[in-house]
Amino acid sequence: MKFEKEILCIGAGYVGGPTMAMIASKCPQYRVTVVDIIPEKIDQWNSADLPIYEPGLDKIVKQARGKNLFFSKDIGAGIKAADIVFVSVNTPTKTFGAGAGMAADLQYVEKTARQILEYSESSKIVVEKSTIPVRTAQAIKRILVSDKSDVHFEVLSNPEFLAEGTAMRDLENPDRVLIGSQETDSGLKARNELVEIYANWLPKDKIITSNIWSSELSKLVANAFLAQRISSINAVSSLCEETDADVGEVARAVGLDSRIGSKFLQASIGFGGSCFQKDLLNLVYLYCHYGLNEEADYWEGVLKINENQMDRFVKNMLRNMFNTLAGKRVCVFGFAFKANTGDTRNTPSLTVVEKLLAEQAEVAITDPKALDNAARDLKDAKGNYELISDPYEAAGGCHAIAIMTEWELYRDLDYQKIFDSMQKPAFIFDGRNIVDHDKLFEIGFNVFPIGKPKKVHF
Ligand code: NAD
Ligand code: UGA
Repeated sequence: MKFEKEILCIGAGYVGGPTMAMIASKCPQYRVTVVDIIPEKIDQWNSADLPIYEPGLDKIVKQARGKNLFFSKDIGAGIKAADIVFVSVNTPTKTFGAGAGMAADLQYVEKTARQILEYSESSKIVVEKSTIPVRTAQAIKRILVSDKSDVHFEVLSNPEFLAEGTAMRDLENPDRVLIGSQETDSGLKARNELVEIYANWLPKDKIITSNIWSSELSKLVANAFLAQRISSINAVSSLCEETDADVGEVARAVGLDSRIGSKFLQASIGFGGSCFQKDLLNLVYLYCHYGLNEEADYWEGVLKINENQMDRFVKNMLRNMFNTLAGKRVCVFGFAFKANTGDTRNTPSLTVVEKLLAEQAEVAITDPKALDNAARDLKDAKGNYELISDPYEAAGGCHAIAIMTEWELYRDLDYQKIFDSMQKPAFIFDGRNIVDHDKLFEIGFNVFPIGKPKKVHF
């Protein structure tokens, strides 16, 4: 069968896999191929057991795979055949050299650009899907035009705004899709081609366009604003704990102001995930690069509050459990950085577990989807910990429970049964404010929510 367009995505990760599956399912007239340098990942995408857990992903991959969605190890062939190449590789924080711990590590993006140049025999649109520092398109373009004058490359920016756990819903019905291009004739033509792809399932007013630098920067700024809201409400939570105000009530009252809005005001143990911290660090690095030091400090404050929130949480446990956790058994409910994903990248749970182990607590970790990743993340951890899939078994014999991930299943457990199996006095520290605190107190727990008055029996 002849397809209208050949679409390639380089990078079969949390973004590449789901976004391409969505395009393939909405556009049967295009052939969509996803490639990766890790062959085992491609094998997994081609198997019954996909490499990532994302609600709804399985279904659409299985429907489109082998029809117009393909996962392949042959990067060169993929590039040769493609009209449009999405670059969806990782852009982690640099761990070495200049800018270590702050700047984005662009080596994977650059290698991808070089691969595209090497294998291209015809003109292509290259789409930045990865989150990158503003003006990266210029570097990509410079590599692409460094050879092969008969092949034309147009670089577009099309940042991804999906959140894990709701990726398929976000892709199917996004608040907006952003496409940035150079404002030349060929840039505008390429931009329109990409608009047409999304227009297969989205109304045109949801597809917004801008110049390429605005598009690149908007992605970093969107993540910075989201992270800032979480740090803002978390900064309020500590004051609530001192004053007996309730952060949930404050968030509700503040969020009902339509200028502020109610979303992303859920006080928590802190934000995790692969992007907020990395993108904020990247933004701070950019400000420093341009000598904008006060602004850099402002955004860095968002990260400091986040770290402080986790630190505060463990200190609160220590203080309320008679200033020692040594030899006590603590059950950690949830290791994923948020519910409905198995992803543990930069998860607050790891930070908390490490702090608990440093206090010589014995830690029992449970999670419905993230225990394989937890085993990998904790392989060098020093101390006494266990990974147990059944939450009842994990909590048995413990002195305390710390709720780290807002999995729905933790709301509805039989807490009487859990209480009966625990050491007394039994403590519960709710880092997500998801359980019924009054009910747990009635059962006999000493309850410590985030940003709400504690409920104790002594
Ligand atoms: P990921 O690590 O899950 O996937 C990236 C993939 O790219 C990996 O499988 C890696 O092997 C592959 N890769 C790296 N270099 C390659 C090369 N030269 N050729 C072929 N494959 C190569 O990362 P991710 O979470 O999908 O994120 C990708 C980008 O999207 C990042 O810039 C991230 O900031 C951004 N982003 C992520 C999310 C999210 O929810 N995870 C959301 C929006 C944007
Ligand atoms: C986030 C953004 O929401 C996406 O728009 C963006 O595309 C993505 O980063 C990215 O660039 O990678 P994600 O990290 O998957 O998505 O998940 P979020 O729902 O944003 O949650 C991030 C963290 O903040 C989680 O740890 C979550 O539990 C925490 N959070 C979120 C709170 O503590 N309180 C809230 O009110 C909301």
